[in-house]
Amino acid sequence: MRILITAGPTREPIDPVRFLSNRSTGKMGYAIATAAELRGHEVLLVSGPVNVPTPGGCHIVSVETASQMYDEVMECSKGCDAAVMVAAVADYTPRETSPQKLKKSGDQNIKLKRTKDILGSMRQIFEFDGVLVGFAADTEELRENALSKMKSKGCDFIVANDVSRKDIGFESDQNEVTVFQSDGSKDHIKKCSKQDIAEKILDKIESLLKG
Ligand code: CTP
Repeated sequence: MRILITAGPTREPIDPVRFLSNRSTGKMGYAIATAAELRGHEVLLVSGPVNVPTPGGCHIVSVETASQMYDEVMECSKGCDAAVMVAAVADYTPRETSPQKLKKSGDQNIKLKRTKDILGSMRQIFEFDGVLVGFAADTEELRENALSKMKSKGCDFIVANDVSRKDIGFESDQNEVTVFQSDGSKDHIKKCSKQDIAEKILDKIESLLKG
């Protein structure tokens, strides 16, 4: 299969030296890309700035901002059989980016605007008809949030994790997730390596594609 994966954070520039971002390291997305490549799949990886080793045979498209990621995903999703949106895309970006470094004076009041929802655009705007997988990182009401995201974004399944726990998730090599499927089933994957979670996610995608 041909699979698109988004990974890492995005960076939203305030001025030439400062940006808004988040704690995503890209480990989960890169683990899925590596595992898919080792299974012999064609992998397109649209990645924000990360510090993890690049999976050998993947086609990598490097981006910085949510807006660049949106444009690349629109292009790369064409002809893909599956898409897994792991990136922690910034929900807001500065309304204006200063061309010069901002000098300190009094308090700063940086105005933010919403970014476009890439996963939420896949079905209706990009007309993607392959297997669509989303991630949901929350600190409370995991199930409710995951189910509403899965429905509103048209996902086949959504991988939910609790980012309030310090031992898993962001910056960790391990995670514990619950996979909610659009057919109503759910599968809890106990704390394990991100590589093991990647294999389980790929198993699910492959079985959905087999029909
Ligand atoms: N996502 C995306 N584009 C965005 C924001 C998120 O593609 N601009 C994707 C992520 O890659 C992830 C899923 O959407 O697969 C997360 O859903 P979202 O509703 O954005 O989650 P949160 O950012 O946690 O949203 P909220 O702040 O509403 O909880």
